[in-house]
Amino acid sequence: MYSALRTVIRRRGFATNATVNGFDGAIGNTPLIYLKGLSERIGSRIYGKAEFQNPGGSVKDRAALGLVSNAEKQGLLKPGGTVVEGTAGNTGIGLAHVCRAKGYKCVIYMPNSQSQEKIDLLKMLGADVRPVPAVAYENPKNYNHQAKEYAESIPNAVWTNQFDNTANAQAHYETTGPEIWQQTGGKLDAFICATGTGGTLAGVGRYLKEKSNGKTQIWIADPPGSVLTSYVNSGGKLNERSGGSITEGIGQGRITDNLGTFVKQVDGAFTVPDEKSIAMLYDLLDTEGLYLGASSTLNVVAAYELAQKLGKGSSVITVLCDGAYRYQSRLFSKTWLESKGLLSAIPDHLKKYAVLD
Ligand SMILES: Cc1ncc(COP(=O)(O)O)c(C=O)c1O
Repeated sequence: MYSALRTVIRRRGFATNATVNGFDGAIGNTPLIYLKGLSERIGSRIYGKAEFQNPGGSVKDRAALGLVSNAEKQGLLKPGGTVVEGTAGNTGIGLAHVCRAKGYKCVIYMPNSQSQEKIDLLKMLGADVRPVPAVAYENPKNYNHQAKEYAESIPNAVWTNQFDNTANAQAHYETTGPEIWQQTGGKLDAFICATGTGGTLAGVGRYLKEKSNGKTQIWIADPPGSVLTSYVNSGGKLNERSGGSITEGIGQGRITDNLGTFVKQVDGAFTVPDEKSIAMLYDLLDTEGLYLGASSTLNVVAAYELAQKLGKGSSVITVLCDGAYRYQSRLFSKTWLESKGLLSAIPDHLKKYAVLD
């Protein structure tokens, strides 16, 4: 069903000098970066999949292409049609790019709590952006429900439904998973990442479990305010959501259909506090020259801690979801960091990077 995605990968291989066909062809085949400083600190091998190098700037380009390709194949989207999605930002950005490249209109519903950079970028990419109050999924005014209703109200429109349309996880099963397997030569002990829709975790997890005959461990890293750590560690009890995190695009209050395709095979989960994610954000900038968003740095904290759990010599892979560009007015602002109680979490010698007031 996803032969187009597979063909793109086969044609490009992992050669950096390969030519590709348009925006879609440039999605995927991202480098796997060895994080030298962190790895040497603990005698393990920690790698980050450089998803910020996708042409739309995030891991969600893969999901966007997978969702649109799937809608086309099912005959749900015809030339000149409209793609509608509820998204905290990155999927919308990926969709806006893919829609421009394929000639579709793009309408994005998003919680109005999201960063201004992402809203502006969506508009610049030609999307019709509709910020709505940030209310829980149970509320009919939740951005996802509004996106669905709107798509149903106009002709030749599709609600791509990134949370519960498993074409999302399938895109990672067919691209991200095989890339990681090939790039590591199958030599990896564990993969860990945080989840929003769960597409990345479920798709990569399923592929790596199958290829390794169950040997590769798959872990969930959770931000504060998400229920997945307690869900996994209690053997499937879903608690009420409480608290929150500065990270964007990750954390869940339910088991989405994408996550549901894999959650029973997850080996473990733990929560990473914002203090650690923000300290890692500054640390990676200083020691590795990587300018990453907070979901990426949460993932790296988690990979580092999991590698320590698994012991010296272990090899752990995670995802570098996007760059800090989309959040820089917050993440590098002393005032904003102070307002979140996070300025003190940054080690003194790294505070020099917080250059905005
Ligand atoms: C910055 C960022 N990191 C991580 C994720 C989570 O990826 P997934 O939806 O595949 O779980 C998202 C999803 O929107 C995101 O925007």
